[in-house]
Amino acid sequence: MLDTRISRRAALMGAGALAAWLTSPARAVLAAAGQLTIPNFVDDLIRRMTLEEKAGQLSLMASAWGGGAALALNPPQGNSDFPRQVEEARQGQLTGVFNGNGATMARILQSAAVKESRLKIPLIFAADIIHGHRTIFPVPLAEVASFEPDLARRTAEAASFEAAGAGIDWTFSPMVDVARDQRWGRGVEGGGEDVLLGRLFAAARVQGFQGSDLKSPEHMLACIKHFAAYGGAESGLDYNVVDISEARLREVYLQPYKAGLDAGALSFMASFNEINGVPATGNHWLQTELLRGEWGFQGFVVSDYTGDEEMIAAGYAKDGRDATKLAFLAGVDMSMQSGLYRKHLPDLVRSGQVPEALLNQSVRRVLAMKAMLGLFDNPFRRIDVKRESARSMLPKTRALAREAGRKAIVMLKNDGELLPLPRSGKAIALIGPFASGQHDLVGPWVVYGDDAKSVDLATGIRSAFKGKLIVAPGSGVEEPLAGGIEQAVAAARQADVVVLAIGEGANMSGEAQSRTEIVVPEPQQRLAEAVAAVGKPVVVLLKHGRALALEGAVANAHAILATWFLGTETGNAIADVLFGAYSPSGRLPASFPRASGQEPYYYARKSTGRPNPQGPLEPYKAHFRGMPNSALYPFGHGLTYGRIEYSGLKLSSPTLPMNGTIEVSAIVTNRGSRAADEVVQLYTHDKVASLTRPVRELKAFRKIAFAPGQSEVVRFTLRSSDLSFVGRDNRWVTEPGTFDVWIAPSAEAEGVHGTFELIA
Ligand code: NOJ
Repeated sequence: MLDTRISRRAALMGAGALAAWLTSPARAVLAAAGQLTIPNFVDDLIRRMTLEEKAGQLSLMASAWGGGAALALNPPQGNSDFPRQVEEARQGQLTGVFNGNGATMARILQSAAVKESRLKIPLIFAADIIHGHRTIFPVPLAEVASFEPDLARRTAEAASFEAAGAGIDWTFSPMVDVARDQRWGRGVEGGGEDVLLGRLFAAARVQGFQGSDLKSPEHMLACIKHFAAYGGAESGLDYNVVDISEARLREVYLQPYKAGLDAGALSFMASFNEINGVPATGNHWLQTELLRGEWGFQGFVVSDYTGDEEMIAAGYAKDGRDATKLAFLAGVDMSMQSGLYRKHLPDLVRSGQVPEALLNQSVRRVLAMKAMLGLFDNPFRRIDVKRESARSMLPKTRALAREAGRKAIVMLKNDGELLPLPRSGKAIALIGPFASGQHDLVGPWVVYGDDAKSVDLATGIRSAFKGKLIVAPGSGVEEPLAGGIEQAVAAARQADVVVLAIGEGANMSGEAQSRTEIVVPEPQQRLAEAVAAVGKPVVVLLKHGRALALEGAVANAHAILATWFLGTETGNAIADVLFGAYSPSGRLPASFPRASGQEPYYYARKSTGRPNPQGPLEPYKAHFRGMPNSALYPFGHGLTYGRIEYSGLKLSSPTLPMNGTIEVSAIVTNRGSRAADEVVQLYTHDKVASLTRPVRELKAFRKIAFAPGQSEVVRFTLRSSDLSFVGRDNRWVTEPGTFDVWIAPSAEAEGVHGTFELIA
């Protein structure tokens, strides 16, 4: 296996507190947290359970509270009758529910389970706490743009504080699927296109949710999802197949799951997709041999929503009974929502098709987990109606949402230093469907957050800007607005500068939201063209859940900020950057291509035998017709209000001995007149190997604050094992040879470059 210590350490030199916990005694606590402790009473309990009660402990359902509001978050399926669900809890037919509504609901169900069921086994309450509970933080992809894993640890911890206060024991998060095709809508939930960032954010989020004591009523169990390679869906179509070499699977896609596991996660969710013909939910190699055998996972695996049943439509299982058997024997301990396990497992055991010992093992894992969460000691430890409201949206949590929001913003372009805008004296035309109003603020995958409790853009701007503000929507998100363009053009004419708030609506990314064209929707593009024609300087504020392909007046705007979905503090966070209270420091976690047709586009691509070097297009080279095979804005790109220069790359030696280290440094200087946080990135390229290697790979980064005029020698230590890869036999290998190394401001910027030799 990859020696993760090394690249982790190098990468985290600037990542502050996260670096500290990975190397500190707290890390030992986490490692212990990754172990399942099984109290003695669990096996006694299992001996007393009927087969039906055992299968019940492996059956998780969406909450039926409120007529099944939770079901609306997923395809409609199953029971929306709450009294019936309470009866199921009484009958021991339910291990828990998810996406229910708060402590009131939880108290009713938990009381039925622990006071009225035969064995009084507590329920577990789960929810999709993806980027906040009541206080909503930036969507996970946006947060990765901070290049600050510890920020993600802090927001996960804050989300956990609110959610655990509302009766939730278990979050279906973090989602750590590497996403390299921006057509896929679910990239918004994860860590972006890069392996190193994916690993660091996976670990940080697990640590934030779980803390060091799972019994704590301020923490909850994390769930690594979706296992595995869900982000590799062919053509970016959600739920589509994944056909992938084992080497790429191991080297790229599996890495963040493993990092989450190493950080102590004790539950995993199987993914919807198949891998090389076998659905992940029925994949014994994946869920048992690799996850448990090779990686030593001790927790439990839950299916995704009806994932077991979906093996029938996929053409892998004959019927529900067959699907149950395949999923369970593959290693999926718990079934979500289909109800198949409780329907078929008892009889599968009776007929000898599923060994009872295996059933007991899965039940043991689930009961042990409930014990570790403190539910047997006090089933109501997280259920407290008063505490739920007392913890909700506290000023310190909102302040963290604002901090995370501004750190997530990426300045893609700033021609003529148009930004920051002056805080008074000028007139601003704020145009676009996202200019004002309590909509599309919290973004996708929010169960409990509320746009109405969030700060919209116009409100944020009004509290930072003392000049004239004219607001005009101009267009709907995907539909034109009658008279909208005329009104917007009139507003632009009256203004000194136009701020154009355009992009995707909250429902355009996330599950089942794959797009063929990842562009600004057509009515908004028309609006942008009309407004640009007025001739005023234009600042584009993009709203988006993925990297976009920018065109025409949008691409040509004077300044562009990628502002994603920032959550509760959207307007304030954007205003902080727009008017210079905060110098933008975010970096792209996913490359912005030149056109949708380049997808999947990612920086760590292979060279091909016919690369076209930067410069004019050459015939018979690997590029699309009339277009360089590069990004418009690559991974890692992001400008600041400073003016950062790179010079003087130095290597401590021309050679790096096997099992040794080499120091790589560069001089980084802020020649601007404003302070800036620069994300200094180190990339390598293995020039010749037994399997071709990506043109660049991020190996380390540091986020450093620079005062105006400040110059720093930024040093990184690389170890030989940082250069290892998964070889032909699907094992990690480190091969001698020549390596390029860059210290640069993005994956496609030259920065400063050198070479060294890795010697045997
Ligand atoms: C389906 C999604 O794929 C998964 O991410 C989520 O956790 C479940 N639904 C439960 O809501």
